[in-house]
Amino acid sequence: MKLSYLWRGLPGHPIHPPLTDATIGAYTFATAAAFAEVVGITEDSGAYGWWIALIFGLIVTGPTAVTGLLDWLSIERGTELWKTATSHMIAMLSATVFFALAAIFGHDKYTQGDVSSGAFILTLIGFGLLTLGGWLGGAIVYVHGMRVLNLVKEPTERAVSPVPHPEKEIAEG
Ligand code: HEM
Repeated sequence: MKLSYLWRGLPGHPIHPPLTDATIGAYTFATAAAFAEVVGITEDSGAYGWWIALIFGLIVTGPTAVTGLLDWLSIERGTELWKTATSHMIAMLSATVFFALAAIFGHDKYTQGDVSSGAFILTLIGFGLLTLGGWLGGAIVYVHGMRVLNLVKEPTERAVSPVPHPEKEIAEG
């Protein structure tokens, strides 16, 4: 057992990916709610949903970014994997900035049940960067194979159990 399992997760069960689901889900809902408000599908509720989802997204971005950073630190600098992961980091941190700006500049209108056009544009830019970052995150895992064990014949009871599996250190290669 390694102490780092506490913040990086177990081999085969890293912590960053499940946290990204919550973060991306919150920002995606925020964008959909803002769209519903702006095009008039909702009267006020879209604005409330948008702002609350943005705040939730910004809160879960904290642990999501920290766990991603801890995995990123394990990658050898200058490798192709490092370049992809660094692009992913830049895209995700930029998306976070745009969502935070949308929450700050959209706050006044949100209290009146509206999404201002400026805040909506900031949300859309954030969502575009989030999509780009998600694509790059997928490349880290599904192209470079970071933290993937690929133990096709592993018995199910072992595959799903919280035991450390051997993790190939391809991440550093
Ligand atoms: C809003 C914040 C972030 C989101 C939503 C996010 C999202 C993602 C997604 C979707 C993946 C692919 C996971 C999969 O499909 O299984 C991923 C992987 C990864 N991300 Fe992030 N990411 C964020 C922040 C960061 C940051 C700040 C860093 C680095 C400093 C980082 C480093 C990594 C690394 C190294 C991986 C490879 C898989 C792993 O480590 O578990 N991420 N991320």
